[in-house]
Amino acid sequence: MLRCALLLLATCALLASAQFPRECVTPEGLRSGRCCPTPAGLENDPCGATAGRGLCVPVAVDARPHGPQYPHDGRDDRERWPVRFFNSTCRCNGNFSGFNCGRCRHGFTGDNCDQRVSVVRRNVMQLSADEKLAFVSALDQAKRTVHPDLVIAMRRFQEIFGPDGNTMQFENITIYNYFVWSHYYSVSKTFLGAGQASFGGVDFSHEGPGFLTWHRFHLLQLEQDMQDMLQDPSFALPYWDFAIGGSTCDICTDDLMGARSSFDMNSLSTNSVFSSWRVICESVEDYDTLGTICNSTESSPIRRNPAGNVNRPMVQRLPEPQDVAACLQVNTFDTAPYYSTSDESFRNSVEGYSAPQGNYDPAVRSLHNLAHLFLNGTGGQTHLSPNDPIFVLLHTYTDAIFDEWLRRHSPDSAVYPDENAPIGHNRGYNMVPFWPPVTNAEMFVTAQDNLGYSYAAEWPAQPFTVTEIITMTIVAALVVVAVVFAATTCAVRAKSRREGHQPLLVDQYQRYDDDKSQSVV
Ligand SMILES: *[C@@H]1O[C@H](CO)[C@@H](O)[C@H](O)[C@H]1NC(C)=O
Ligand SMILES: *[C@@H]1O[C@H](CO)[C@@H](O)[C@H](O)[C@H]1NC(C)=O
Ligand SMILES: *[C@@H]1O[C@H](CO)[C@@H](O)[C@H](O)[C@H]1NC(C)=O
Ligand SMILES: *[C@@H]1O[C@H](CO)[C@@H](O)[C@H](O)[C@H]1NC(C)=O
Ligand SMILES: *[C@@H]1O[C@H](CO)[C@@H](O)[C@H](O)[C@H]1NC(C)=O
Repeated sequence: MLRCALLLLATCALLASAQFPRECVTPEGLRSGRCCPTPAGLENDPCGATAGRGLCVPVAVDARPHGPQYPHDGRDDRERWPVRFFNSTCRCNGNFSGFNCGRCRHGFTGDNCDQRVSVVRRNVMQLSADEKLAFVSALDQAKRTVHPDLVIAMRRFQEIFGPDGNTMQFENITIYNYFVWSHYYSVSKTFLGAGQASFGGVDFSHEGPGFLTWHRFHLLQLEQDMQDMLQDPSFALPYWDFAIGGSTCDICTDDLMGARSSFDMNSLSTNSVFSSWRVICESVEDYDTLGTICNSTESSPIRRNPAGNVNRPMVQRLPEPQDVAACLQVNTFDTAPYYSTSDESFRNSVEGYSAPQGNYDPAVRSLHNLAHLFLNGTGGQTHLSPNDPIFVLLHTYTDAIFDEWLRRHSPDSAVYPDENAPIGHNRGYNMVPFWPPVTNAEMFVTAQDNLGYSYAAEWPAQPFTVTEIITMTIVAALVVVAVVFAATTCAVRAKSRREGHQPLLVDQYQRYDDDKSQSVV
């Protein structure tokens, strides 16, 4: 009891907050609603204002209406994020960035943040043996290294000051577990009170246009945290090209994400470091009935059984390369109701609730969703999925497809809906639970020019569109007519002269037709 009390006191003295900077989550800090720390190396200079780095300003929140999926108001800490916790933040000048303006925007470096830097995200299968080992070791280090700046909330805001009103309910968390926790927090249900069922119709990071922008920032933050941890600004997250068809998980080997255990279909081989990882955020029933929040306590090992869902043959195969090619051709970024039911929406296609070609079909699970479901285990359950490190590689590839779509279609920013998307997904909404505030719009830009990273990727050839097929059919028909005409003429002439052999022409004509029908399939 005494030890508990001391521990709580110690935690309190060290000031933690919901993934907020450690130094902001003091009782006074939260009561003031202000989180404008001084950058390292400066003295009592919030946001480095006197050094010209930034200013402490009121947080701007999205005031536009959201879609009808979330009917409650005032019941969830994530509404109008993040003002339930803080309403003042640093706004940084120029290329400065970070919660205290102490660092540079993505893509910039140097004391004045005026030098451009860019990293290249590569296919994980094409890394050398040394690079694979370095990546796996870096993930393992991130799983064990306490996040240098951020702490997580273990309670809803209502209970955040603790039973005595002064014991802040925040705690330290490791870099990788923070990555898991932030995903959990964004998808968790709305607690409506003891004895009442929690409301599950919210998801601040899926089933809406923010799916792509949210996961993009999520990865950028992990990449940056790992660069800092490794003190290597060139560190880049690789990607998994999951659109390879078939039922083999090519990255499920001990030099990458871990092979299958020979003793248990659902476990990882003990030759993989990931077999010793333990998951967080597993106690969903507790959270939903007690109104608590996932904390940093680790529980069971990662479960994974690639292609193992015998009850659902549809998810026993990975997406095909042409699925990627097809979704890249969907012209509209997202369509009303900007939800998992959207038809002819690029976002809904790559997320995987509609066919890759864009047509909405409730029975379909494709691309991103299919790759998750294929894993049949930890990586296939939304509240837990980042616990399986495959999540990182699966999402960098999803982000690569998004970036390729942005590159090909050069959309105006207005293409991203500014209202009536599900809560959390409007263009100007601050993505939950990130701090400092960052909107969906800020991630709706090409990565290379704006965010300091790019993908080394080759894209599958595009399948033909209906118009192209019709055109080719007409051309082919004309060619056939011409060839038949020519052949007949030649044959008649040849015969009329002497006897010749001309099976060549007929052969050629047939080969052409075969080739065409093959490429159209
Ligand atoms: C939390 O992490 C910080 C930074 O590593 C450390 O100084 C502090 O002692 C930790 N607090 C607790 C309660 O473990
Ligand atoms: C900011 O939040 C604090 C604490 O909740 C509150 O006292 C203050 O009035 C708020 N300020 C604004 C401008 O909303
Ligand atoms: C960021 O740095 C680049 C490169 O030095 C510079 O051209 C640009 O003006 C800077 N951006 C801002 C907003 O200061
Ligand atoms: C952390 O989560 C575990 C699992 O749900 C729970 O048993 C424990 O009480 C939580 N810790 C705190 C301090 O809430
Ligand atoms: C994995 O597959 C089994 C067998 O088909 C199924 O019962 C189970 O629900 C699946 N688990 C997950 C997490 O997908």
